[in-house]
Amino acid sequence: MRMLTKAPRGTNDIIPAESVKWRYIEDVTGKICKSYGFKEIRTPLFEHTELFERGVGDTTDVVQKEMYTFNDKGGRSITLRPEGTAGAARAYLERNLYAEAQPTKLYYNISCYRYEKPQAGRLREFHQFGAECYGAKGPAVDAEMIMLAENVLTELKIPGIKLNINSIGCPTCRAEYNRALREYFSGCYDELCDTCKSRYEKNPLRILDCKSPVCKKLCEGAPMLLDYICEECSEHFEGLKKYLDASHVPYNVDPTIVRGLDYYTKTVFEFKTTLEGTQGTVCGGGRYDGLIEEIGGSPTPAIGFAMGMERILLAMEAAGSLPELDENPDLFVATIGGEADIFSMNFIKNLRQEGISAARDYLDRSLKAQMKYADKLGARFSLVLGETEVNEKRAKLKNMTTGETKEIDLCDIAKAIKEEL
Ligand code: HAM
Repeated sequence: MRMLTKAPRGTNDIIPAESVKWRYIEDVTGKICKSYGFKEIRTPLFEHTELFERGVGDTTDVVQKEMYTFNDKGGRSITLRPEGTAGAARAYLERNLYAEAQPTKLYYNISCYRYEKPQAGRLREFHQFGAECYGAKGPAVDAEMIMLAENVLTELKIPGIKLNINSIGCPTCRAEYNRALREYFSGCYDELCDTCKSRYEKNPLRILDCKSPVCKKLCEGAPMLLDYICEECSEHFEGLKKYLDASHVPYNVDPTIVRGLDYYTKTVFEFKTTLEGTQGTVCGGGRYDGLIEEIGGSPTPAIGFAMGMERILLAMEAAGSLPELDENPDLFVATIGGEADIFSMNFIKNLRQEGISAARDYLDRSLKAQMKYADKLGARFSLVLGETEVNEKRAKLKNMTTGETKEIDLCDIAKAIKEEL
């Protein structure tokens, strides 16, 4: 029976005490996205497996080790999305968003699935807030994308935020770099893990991202892509830095960032927090100018990022940066006697229509127990309806914080509460 009351490893329920916090973060991110001209997109939770194999890349850890892939009843290979970019890019193409005014700016709040070793801030079902921009190739968009992410992190008061940027070049500079990498790793090829041995020919850049401690050690001293980027990529990177400098966005160039997904070109970036126990990287992103073509569209420049919502929440909780959030009722209506009980039903219905959140008892509690319940619910106001109140259409409205009471006509209750809230 235990199986029935235990959620699968690496998943989490977002119970009401938590969901208020999620909604707060989503409200903040939604508002900021709007101010940057980004609109929400919702794509399916699952896609054809091939989209991720082609998009995310078949030499990445995500595709090789972490995807939830299964055959559906029609025998098609389906994968629960491990991230949001591939689905957004597919929708951009399939739904002809490229035919609208360009660039197309999208954001999303989604659940993602990766078969990873669960720990604090690392789950198998996790959530991302992400943004993507299609159809603009200059570094101004890179800068705005980074500023959008920074704006969100600042507004959410995530402490100790550090922005690291790098350029990982285009296919032209990558070819030369790959040669240099193969030459470097040829000396220690036998010591690489089996996965990295297979990456050596196909995509040696991925070795730099391997989680195995032996491979990690072997990577120390490997050539850096930043030293190999072509003139165009270098100009793009310089352009980005100028925009960031001019906008007073502090950053650090970290030539070791390669990112864990294959679609990246040119600019890559990560925001880390110095807080302990939050898994460091709260946001990752970059340019991916080849992805749209890779999945069947015409060449289209693109850039985006995603933040791990669980990590954001951990950081906010550790730093105490969440505001006071409650969903407590504005009013509790207690009743004495059958007549008042019947009357209260329609009375409460009308109050709710006037925008007041109102609660009542359903368990035949005594008046004393009703008031105790009102307290537990955290109601801001309460009133008691008995025979007299129903007949005279007046009752005492009590402010539950101050204890103050005011006698008011029942038809003015909503107005009185709104004035005081
Ligand atoms: P990513 O770096 O794989 O990039 O993930 C982005 C963020 O999601 C990470 O920085 C982290 O905060 C969070 N995250 C990743 N895996 C987990 C996990 N297992 N548990 C909890 N949080 C996690 C992407 O997914 C790209 N699609 C980002 C992007 C958008 N690039 C361009 N556009």
